[in-house]
Amino acid sequence: MKRILSPSVLSADFAILGEQLALLKKCGVTNIHYDVMDGMYVPSISFGMPVLKSIRQCTDLVLDVHMMVVDPDRYVEDFRKSGADIITVHAEACTHLDRVVNHIKETGAKAAVALNPATPLSALEYVLPELDMVLLMTVNPGFGGQKYIPYCTDKIRTLRKIADQVNPGLSIQVDGGINPATVRTVLEAGADNLVAGSAVFNGDLAANAEALMNVMKEYH
Ligand code: DX5
Ligand code: ZN
Repeated sequence: MKRILSPSVLSADFAILGEQLALLKKCGVTNIHYDVMDGMYVPSISFGMPVLKSIRQCTDLVLDVHMMVVDPDRYVEDFRKSGADIITVHAEACTHLDRVVNHIKETGAKAAVALNPATPLSALEYVLPELDMVLLMTVNPGFGGQKYIPYCTDKIRTLRKIADQVNPGLSIQVDGGINPATVRTVLEAGADNLVAGSAVFNGDLAANAEALMNVMKEYH
């Protein structure tokens, strides 16, 4: 499976966001991770539809919207119209997860479900065959720059094994604390889509992205 780096714009410099996205594209980045926080599901507030619309107008990169939002079904349509290619909702935030997954697919976006570190994989048992991607949080969601939680490695490995049986094309995304020290751990466990915020945007953007992608190429 192709390994994908998804830089998280949560750690970007918003005054020069367009330039930073163009530079990432030049380095070979294909996907961008867009963290929506509502101040309820997670403590912090980030950005919503208008910023996504502006990004959509200035880039053709794949836009992956991670909704850290209570009852995210309310906004699926809006984010799709604003340019989302992949829409991720948290299982913990949905009362009717099956309905929300179907709703995402009806809009034409790829459907993904996220699990917090402490949420068991069994929460996904019945919807797993329907999903394009599962996002395993490797920190507690809400902030960039946190430390990778080591017990998540086993969870990635287990999900890969289950997916091989019921949904072999499933993409496994990991999010939180991914940096040069943890990248090999998650790749070896079976993750194929790696979100990285601070490890990409803090310091030399191009050099950081290239270093991570070079490691990922070894696992193709
Ligand atoms: C955290 C967000 C992440 C965040 C990751 O709740 O979902 O996408 O940007 O940041 P790092 O890579 O710095 O841990
Ligand atoms: Zn995220």
